[in-house]
Amino acid sequence: MSNLVPRDLPLPLPAPAWLLEFLLVSSFMLHILFVNLMVGGSLFTVFYQWKGKTDQRFEELAYLVAKTLTVNKSLAVVLGVGPLLCLNVLYTTFFYSANALTGTAWLMIIPLISGAFLLTYLHKYTWHNNSLSRGSHRLIAIFAAILFLIIPFIFLANANLMLFPERWGEVKGFFTALLLPNVFPRYLHFIAASVTVTGLFLIGYLGRNKDPSSIFQREPNFLFEARRSLYSLCFVITAAQFIIGPLVLFTLPSHGISGAMLGFLLIAIAMAMVLLKFLYQESKNPTPQLSKGFLRIVFLFTVIVAFMVSIRHMYREQALSAHKQIQKEKTQAFLDESAAAAIQAKSPVAEVSPQEKGKNAFASYCSGCHAEATVKVGPALTEIRGIYKTDTAGIVKWAKAPGKKRPGMAMPSMNHVQEDDLDAIAHWILKAK
Ligand code: HEC
Repeated sequence: MSNLVPRDLPLPLPAPAWLLEFLLVSSFMLHILFVNLMVGGSLFTVFYQWKGKTDQRFEELAYLVAKTLTVNKSLAVVLGVGPLLCLNVLYTTFFYSANALTGTAWLMIIPLISGAFLLTYLHKYTWHNNSLSRGSHRLIAIFAAILFLIIPFIFLANANLMLFPERWGEVKGFFTALLLPNVFPRYLHFIAASVTVTGLFLIGYLGRNKDPSSIFQREPNFLFEARRSLYSLCFVITAAQFIIGPLVLFTLPSHGISGAMLGFLLIAIAMAMVLLKFLYQESKNPTPQLSKGFLRIVFLFTVIVAFMVSIRHMYREQALSAHKQIQKEKTQAFLDESAAAAIQAKSPVAEVSPQEKGKNAFASYCSGCHAEATVKVGPALTEIRGIYKTDTAGIVKWAKAPGKKRPGMAMPSMNHVQEDDLDAIAHWILKAK
């Protein structure tokens, strides 16, 4: 197998690898939570607004969700910086290679995010004034949701491509990167998780507004119903994850799957089954006040997500381990080679003692006319030493503007020679320090 992974940068990590990995996993978990809320929130806004066409109460509900969206999407982006930095440090060449291979799409993330942000604000701030028709107002939410669906897709394709250097040779841009077998199941898994996370968030969030004019204070029953249908939705989606999850697992190239990973997965699946049962109970009979039942669900869900994120990391480490080994060897080979080259070249820029510099410069500029003990065109160095003793500056001055002392030829000016070379020459002639 030809290995396309380039050598690594021969620099030490800024912190121990285990610490960076821990930071990566934990900061990623926080980031993905808000990404889920961003994607889910935009979907719920569209859905509730659409239902609001016939039932005004859903329009109000949609507005409550949309208000959280602008906050959650900002948090998603800000909290993305941490994991991105850790990823860059830990998987430098893997990550950058994947970025380069998906080039244009990867760069598109910036205009797409900016566009999505502007649309969500436009959507929120035009809600209660009549500058837009209801139809175009709903359309803005739809456009924003589409952008929010595309952005994670690009990230996912990239993060996925990074894991399989053995496939890099076939990849000719973003769309061919999608041909890796597990991209779509993974994406589906993510979207489903986004809906569940947002569903749970809304169950906890709705009805918190104690303002008597708010929809849920006016109609407590509507709150009850909204919660119940959210529980049902979470239940159905979580059940669907029992099909999507295995799809992800079976489409993943098997060389990344380890025993430990499967062990963790089994525990997570067992917990997910319990979660499913809890969700079912609540959907049949939600407690009017948020109760222990809800907290139990949130806690279990959080633990499951922590497991999933860790499993994801375990897979990455395992999938890349052989490539990392080859890369390590390449990096070491590079270091050895450059060390050898430095010694061999004895490059003039590298460490040359001042005396050596003087000797070399004398050989280039002066040795045509001066020799150690014999008179060539000009006087011998032994004679010059006798005249100048320790006065290096005197020699430099002479060389730049020679006088005329002896009979015969005059010495031409050495003004074209660099001052520090002349200085080194003078030091070398006088054997001065
Ligand atoms: C083309 C030949 C030529 C070259 C090249 C040359 N010199 Fe000379 N140099 C002479 C001659 C000829 C004299 C004697 C001049 C005189 O006494 O009038 C001399 C004299 C000297 C003296 C004696 C000055 C004194 O006070 O008596 C020094 C010092 C000297 N050269 C340094 C240098 C250095 C340093 C270089 C190289 C950067 C250099 N020369 C390159 C021809 C040369």
